[in-house]
Amino acid sequence: MSTEFLPPGRATTGSGTISAATATDPARFEADTLVVFLSSGGVGSGGIAAVDQATNGQLTRLWDQGDLTGKRYECVPLLALQGLACRQVLVMGVGPADELTPGILYRAAATAARQLAGRTRDCVGFLAEGHWTNDQIEQAVAGAAVGQIGQDLYRAEKRQHPFAATVWLEAPVEVVTRGGLIADGVNLARRLVNLPPDDLYPETFADEAATIAGRVGLEIEIWDQARLERERCQALLAVARGSERSPRLVLLHYRGTAHGGGAGHADSRPDLALVGKGVTFDSGGLSLKPSEGMLAMKCDMAGAAAALGAIATIAALRLPIHVVAAVGLVENMTGPSAYKLGDVVTARSGLTIEIHNTDAEGRVVLADVLDVVADLQPRRIVDAATLTGACMVALGRDIAGLFTNDQACCDAVQAAATAVGERVWQLPMDKDFDDQILSEVADIKNVGDGRLGGAITAAKLLERFVRGIPWTHVDIAGPAFADKPTPWTGGGGTGAMVRPFVELARTLAR
Ligand code: BES
Ligand code: MN
Ligand code: ZN
Repeated sequence: MSTEFLPPGRATTGSGTISAATATDPARFEADTLVVFLSSGGVGSGGIAAVDQATNGQLTRLWDQGDLTGKRYECVPLLALQGLACRQVLVMGVGPADELTPGILYRAAATAARQLAGRTRDCVGFLAEGHWTNDQIEQAVAGAAVGQIGQDLYRAEKRQHPFAATVWLEAPVEVVTRGGLIADGVNLARRLVNLPPDDLYPETFADEAATIAGRVGLEIEIWDQARLERERCQALLAVARGSERSPRLVLLHYRGTAHGGGAGHADSRPDLALVGKGVTFDSGGLSLKPSEGMLAMKCDMAGAAAALGAIATIAALRLPIHVVAAVGLVENMTGPSAYKLGDVVTARSGLTIEIHNTDAEGRVVLADVLDVVADLQPRRIVDAATLTGACMVALGRDIAGLFTNDQACCDAVQAAATAVGERVWQLPMDKDFDDQILSEVADIKNVGDGRLGGAITAAKLLERFVRGIPWTHVDIAGPAFADKPTPWTGGGGTGAMVRPFVELARTLAR
């Protein structure tokens, strides 16, 4: 069983095969490594107890000596264990059993996989515990597949080597398949973020989207410069003017039916629109960023990558729901035609925006993308954008900001994120912030008064373009990109919001 929608056999894009084996005795399982999960309750029960018995109580001895504690994310390799068919066992701590969540298992499995991927391995087995829920197994499977993939795309000597084969023991095959498809969406988003900006720019991002659309069966529309002009997307086009690379707007449609089939009613309203900021490189434009602030700015298309990764997984899972994804792809540069401070651009909606800072470009791009999406009359819109440094000042690196015009919509996004273990926190949208983006010259300006509340004034600009449709904006400036490695990712793109968006589609489809 090969689950992936990413191209097989390319170590930089996909992991190897993932399969499930339900009736295999863990002690007899022949593999390079068997990963077992240990709670802080001890080695007495579950799959790890079977391994303990097969090894004549060696795990119990290690527990008694304090070598194994089951502390969360503790990772202990045990070589040369007697009585097992595998070469080594990796014991992965998950903390208190009664506090276990899908998110913890995602990170624990990813940590184990990342550790093991330090060198090549033929076959790695993971032993699911009998008391885990299917949601927990699914996220563990996803984590194991994400953890194998690093950001070493352009290194001759790879830091991480995806396993040739991953086998999940004691896990239902359909759950393992789903976990693999979720990982594909996350790994797709991560890879797109990690690609250098001179290789991934609006045109090549659109090509990638077309490849994925063909593979999972999505309808795709790619709007080039000429189409964008015809559509009066003057806000998006203004940001794009500083670059030699021409912009794109990509629309993807997935029409799942209640029976999980392909084509639904062509005229039905989308249940969900996913919108992504796709600034493939953000130099800041004429409001140029300093070098330190610019280095990571290939990540500024992470929202678009999340929208693409999520809709690809939603399609691969055949969820019974109608979803569209729309991404605005531009490069924010300083070329001779670059948009200037003091310029007034007329957005597609007709609203005029005075440009006070060309580095506040994401909201200007999204103004037009949201307007295009609003034409489709979706029941709700959720956008993901690496929109503001201010959101990172407020919430740090790991927590995404939520902003909404509809509390029920926001609650659904929050619940979906929490269910898969991604951190989000809602910020206020009080009316007085609206006044801060009023302009003397145009209808609105693209920054607030000063830096205070900068994540909110950015969200307030977006709100102007959703025409009252229930909408939630997710500012992923912090979680989209890891400057330093964590135990579960080697750094770089994280695939933030892919799993929450898939989970959201799933709850809406129920
Ligand atoms: N892409 C940046 C936001 C960002 C910063 C994302 C750091 C990820 C990490 C965005 O386009 C930007 O430059 N925002 C400005 C807005 C300001 C000029 C009002 C910012 O946050 O400084
Ligand atoms: Mn910017
Ligand atoms: Zn930006």
